[in-house]
Amino acid sequence: MTNFNLKSIGVIRTPYIDNAPYQPIDEDKGEFRIVLNTKYTEGLLDLDSFRYIYVIYLIDRLRRRPSMTVSPPWTPGTKVGLFASRSPVRPNPIGISIVRIKKIVNNEIFTSGLDVFDNTPLLDIKPYVKDLDSKNDANYGWLDDLDSNKEHLLLHIKGIPHDY
Ligand SMILES: C[S@@+](CC[C@H](N)C(=O)[O-])C[C@H]1O[C@@H](n2cnc3c(N)ncnc32)[C@H](O)[C@@H]1O
Repeated sequence: MTNFNLKSIGVIRTPYIDNAPYQPIDEDKGEFRIVLNTKYTEGLLDLDSFRYIYVIYLIDRLRRRPSMTVSPPWTPGTKVGLFASRSPVRPNPIGISIVRIKKIVNNEIFTSGLDVFDNTPLLDIKPYVKDLDSKNDANYGWLDDLDSNKEHLLLHIKGIPHDY
């Protein structure tokens, strides 16, 4: 087993203490802020020319050990491979979220909603680039086999409150 050392380059501030949406909600209420360690501030130059970024972080407060098959919370009874899921409980608990930049002030990036607990350690930020990062023929994988309305299912997956 090879181990690597990663360091946190900042923290993610959100209104969520120990309960967060399953995926980022674009119009989520509250303040979402990425606070980069000041020694990296110069690295933010030109980032505000992009509309979206990838935020990569350590999911640091897990209470369970990973299992190689999972049952997503919004579809109990369905069993899929861990790596065919977005479960946070993984051998390397690394999370990735795509969010919209609202503004950048010094070492802080204010964003649309994030699906992480307050003070989650930040590992990296990358620009989300049109065409490079979107595939026209992307599909829904095993989600297509579920016996439910796709639009309704996506509201569950994204954690968007809705009427049943
Ligand atoms: C399903 S994961 C998805 C993360 C990311 N968007 C992805 O796809 O890699 C999001 C969940 O991780 C959990 N979570 C978020 N931040 C966490 C942290 N710092 N420690 C432990 N669990 C966390 C919350 O339960 C949240 O609903």
